[in-house]
Amino acid sequence: MDLKIPGHIAIIMDGNGRWAQRRGLSRIRGHEAGAESVRRITRECARLGVRQLTLFAFSAENWKRPRMEVSFLMRLYKRYLVQERQEILENNIRFINIGQPHALPAYVQKELEITRERSARNTGMVLCLALNYSGRAEILEAARRFAHDACRGIHRVEDLDEALFARYLAQPEMPDPDLLIRTAGEMRISNFLLWQLSYSEIWVTPVCWPDFRETHLHEGIEAFNQRVRKFGALKA
Ligand code: FPP
Repeated sequence: MDLKIPGHIAIIMDGNGRWAQRRGLSRIRGHEAGAESVRRITRECARLGVRQLTLFAFSAENWKRPRMEVSFLMRLYKRYLVQERQEILENNIRFINIGQPHALPAYVQKELEITRERSARNTGMVLCLALNYSGRAEILEAARRFAHDACRGIHRVEDLDEALFARYLAQPEMPDPDLLIRTAGEMRISNFLLWQLSYSEIWVTPVCWPDFRETHLHEGIEAFNQRVRKFGALKA
């Protein structure tokens, strides 16, 4: 595969529920199967030399789901963080998370912190889990923090430009995603990385997340290679 590998891939992992319902299973079985796709796709991205993989695991809006489903998901994240820690460390992956962690159960916060701290000095792929994440909330929080600094005289309001504003986002060092993949067919951004996705290429596949495999990832990367990225100019 002589392809340009996107530096940063972001994925909206959708369709766990539909995958399960089509098989006559409960929705949580779909999430469980989705965790296996997370493992495989993370491994494949690291192998391909992707620099950052950002996965939308739980949106700030997902709290509206039935309590049983939410609590199953939380326990699944904990299990995933514990089970995958060794592989993350052995593969030199640096783990980070975005979103408001404080609303997450303490047992998830703890595992996030351990994985983050133990992998902090790793130099390979960055794996970013978006948990209790909202793009609008991230932008609002950045605006709040900038306003606070402006009031304290740290910055002048007239000096605010995109680069300065981006320093107030959750992960200021994070490069914008080159490619956004969404599974299960919907053509929406769903409040994900609103600032950072401005110029990302979007590739939507009808495949539900639990069925998403390495070949589908390659298909997305091939589609990305067909795109002409102009960033608003006439040619790249
Ligand atoms: C969307 O499917 C998926 C989620 C809300 C949760 C994402 C969680 C996983 C992929 C599980 C494993 C993740 C980790 C990090 C271990 P949906 O339930 O909205 O599907 P539907 O639209 O078909 O109902």
